[in-house]
Amino acid sequence: MTLIKSVLNESRLFRPEKEFVERANVSGLKSYTALIEEATQNYEGFWARLANENLSWKKPFTQTLDSSQAPFFKWFSDGLLNASYNCLDRHLETIPNKTAIIFESDEGHVTKVTYRELHRQVCVFANGLRSLGITKGDRVIIYMPMSIEGVVAMQACARIGAIHSVVFGGFSAKSLHERIVDAEAKCVITADAGHRGGKIVALKPAVDEAIALDGGTECVKSVIVYHRSVTPVQWFAERDIHWHELIKGKSDVCEPEWVEAEHPLFILYTSGSTGKPKGVQHSTAGYLLGTQTSMKWVFDYRSNDIFWCTADIGWITGHSYVAYGPLGVGATQVIFEGVPTWPDAGRFWQMIERHKVTTFYTAPTAIRSLIKAGEELPLNSDLSSLRLLGSVGEPINPEAWIWYYEKVGQKRCPVVDTWWQTETGSHMIAPLPGVTALKPGSCTQALPGIFAAIVDETGQDVEPGKSGILVIKRPFPSLLRTLWKDPARFKQSYFPEELGGTFYLAGDAANRDLDGFFWIMGRIDDVLNVSGHRLGTMEIESALVGNALVAEAAVVGRPHEIKGEAIVAYVVLKKEIPSSPTEAHALAEKLKLWVASEIGALAKPEEIRFTEQLPKTRSGKIMRRLLRSIAQGNQTLQDVSTLENPAILEQLKKAA
Ligand code: WTA
Repeated sequence: MTLIKSVLNESRLFRPEKEFVERANVSGLKSYTALIEEATQNYEGFWARLANENLSWKKPFTQTLDSSQAPFFKWFSDGLLNASYNCLDRHLETIPNKTAIIFESDEGHVTKVTYRELHRQVCVFANGLRSLGITKGDRVIIYMPMSIEGVVAMQACARIGAIHSVVFGGFSAKSLHERIVDAEAKCVITADAGHRGGKIVALKPAVDEAIALDGGTECVKSVIVYHRSVTPVQWFAERDIHWHELIKGKSDVCEPEWVEAEHPLFILYTSGSTGKPKGVQHSTAGYLLGTQTSMKWVFDYRSNDIFWCTADIGWITGHSYVAYGPLGVGATQVIFEGVPTWPDAGRFWQMIERHKVTTFYTAPTAIRSLIKAGEELPLNSDLSSLRLLGSVGEPINPEAWIWYYEKVGQKRCPVVDTWWQTETGSHMIAPLPGVTALKPGSCTQALPGIFAAIVDETGQDVEPGKSGILVIKRPFPSLLRTLWKDPARFKQSYFPEELGGTFYLAGDAANRDLDGFFWIMGRIDDVLNVSGHRLGTMEIESALVGNALVAEAAVVGRPHEIKGEAIVAYVVLKKEIPSSPTEAHALAEKLKLWVASEIGALAKPEEIRFTEQLPKTRSGKIMRRLLRSIAQGNQTLQDVSTLENPAILEQLKKAA
């Protein structure tokens, strides 16, 4: 709470520079107000205009919003289009020789592709996919390192109407398996390995292991392997095919599959409040529209920009602001294989200088770790090409914001703190850099057409200055359409009856100050935000109890200087807690590794605390709030009168 309080007391204000305002796509308060008014007065007309201006349609739509099956909203549903056509083909006449991607490998090799070349690669690979019998609606899992090929794979799926589901390379074989089976994927696209921070990270073995698990072979008929490295791989001839073999002799002419606006473009799994990840399903047109408008509004896209979003394609940020957004507007973008701290903590800054990056978008956790690694390091690079900075993934603490603004942006570049989610597909609350005055730590105001509000548990607006639940009151084009194969969970998670059934429940608590600025306070569900990655506490708990030694587990978050939040797991063993500290330590380490192998290294607990019991209410519910307080080291605990087993308190405090 102290952090939230200090954030809310922030009073520094940064107004946009006149020079920036003059050149901005949305320039000054008047243009902004005009957009807000247009959206308020003619909501559907506003989105219809933008959909016509920003997307290329094979067949134009006649109906904008269809709410007949709310909350399963449909947008532009009788229109036909193709996402890959919108990202590539439509630029071939105007900017065929413009660089689309500047790829820098871990070792520092640079490869550039033009729009014409990227289009060619996508067409050839899409024909390869078609030759494997993959057609519209089939699911394809992509488990790739950051690479041009990763983007080619996503674009090629979109081109033929196949639904991709990218799984972040840091997830384990078990997590990959869960996603393969849930999506009933017909094909997996992977690489032998990726290179990160001077290390080789194998990928293909996890794919082999995942497919060998229950139900894997029934769905997956082919595995395409891109050879990024020289890592030897096991080969299953009936199923595996080399990327270079697949594309050999394939034509570079590939008619896009024209799909309905509502055709699913992709599924992306994310953590929720149960043990099972949610398959967030996005549409084609609505999703793409959100990425295009935000590229222009929030990133103030200009044709000579060099855009760099550091997110991995395994996350929504890498979908919207690597694979689709920048290509849709015809931008030149940087894609980086490695990590910010290798070979040294100046890598990002050197890359900005090398590629003359104008727009840089990264996460607070990266910013915090780079401050720690070398506060003055940005000064060693020429960062004069930068004109705009962005932040995403978690609240940015004001001090990190100020450092980013002063040391990286040299007090010249607005910082756009963008609040959004896997589910919203594109930015929701974010500054327009040519309009909005910035307050460090606030994501400022909702974008035009986004009716964000803060309400209480019954759906009533709270008074300005009071905290509450963040909702979006009207449906918008880039919102998820459903959860894959689970419409009931979709309804219950995002449009709960208690809020009237029509507000989109974001899952965050927030406050709105007297200027109407939003301050995000964190999740209201059992979801943690560790280094900007969403992790469900239940997922980690189920992994822990899956270990033969563990009887019960409860996972909570504790504030962490770099990661934002760190995972603390309270574990009840089936046998006695080892009496020797060395043994207890060894066991804790073993369980940490177990979680990493079950879910992925990103879910590895920072700390494991053994206890004989978990604190429970009389009805048997684990008192997480209490555990959280203890994990945070709070001395004064809240009301514990409902605690079934009060004696446990002392033991838990001791375990800390
Ligand atoms: C958090 C990432 C504060 C929030 C795009 C949200 C943020 C969750 C911000 C979604 C921000 C994201 N300020 N909090 N600018 N951006 N969050 O689905 O809790 O990985 O609900 O999407 O991250 O995480 P997700």
